[in-house]
Amino acid sequence: MEFFNDYLPKTGDKVMTKWAHYFDIYYRELTRFRQSPIKFLEIGVFQGGSLPMWREFFAEGSGLVFIDIDPSCKAHEIEGTTVKIGSQADPEFLKELINTHGPFDVILDDGSHLCNHQIFTFEHLWPSLNHQGVYMVEDVHTSYWPGFGGGYRNEASFIEYSKRIVDRMHSWYTDQDDLFPFDPIAQELHSVRFYDSICVFEKEKEKEAPMSLTIQNGKLLGSRKVLSGRGRKSVFANKDDG
Ligand SMILES: C[S@@+](CC[C@H](N)C(=O)[O-])C[C@H]1O[C@@H](n2cnc3c(N)ncnc32)[C@H](O)[C@@H]1O
Repeated sequence: MEFFNDYLPKTGDKVMTKWAHYFDIYYRELTRFRQSPIKFLEIGVFQGGSLPMWREFFAEGSGLVFIDIDPSCKAHEIEGTTVKIGSQADPEFLKELINTHGPFDVILDDGSHLCNHQIFTFEHLWPSLNHQGVYMVEDVHTSYWPGFGGGYRNEASFIEYSKRIVDRMHSWYTDQDDLFPFDPIAQELHSVRFYDSICVFEKEKEKEAPMSLTIQNGKLLGSRKVLSGRGRKSVFANKDDG
């Protein structure tokens, strides 16, 4: 937390709006990205207060891109940052953003907080996330607010969508292929982390099918038999090399 403890009392006149407990989450999730230049995208500029913070947080030479639907946000662009005006729900705008500034190591969605936008944006930007990169969605408590497309256990909410991604990450293990077929996201999703109000998705590109290890006398024996031994019919059955 050292960076944020030092930085926050020294902020300038540009307003930043964040919940207090987010800084600990940033510290846990983003410290490892500070060592060398990265590509960072934040959705939502508002009054521009986060731009100088991220510029100081990440290594010099990082590509720091910010988007907002409000044209007045362009005025918050500072040296070392780029502000693009457009909607997180506009596929053409996102495509152009990826082509010009991607792929990204860190994506932070602090935009409209509407559940359908959070889902739409995740689906369009997830492919542009680098190996070992993180995709963070903030203020996911709006998943419990009907005005934002949420409501308790509302299937259309971002939290429920994220829970389904947890299922999809485990689709290697299914023996219920009709109900729960293999989902390719399992091949590129390292983990999903739920914090209070923030969901984090970490990418692992070209992830291998999980292997069980038997370890004895310094020898490691790998097997994927457990995947095929459950009568599965999906793509990884019969590919056991154990
Ligand atoms: C919570 S504020 C962002 C706060 C800022 N990240 C900070 O740390 O101070 C949300 C911003 O999202 C923008 N926004 C709302 N709908 C949007 C959309 N569809 N696409 C992009 N930005 C949007 C708003 O204009 C507003 O500036």
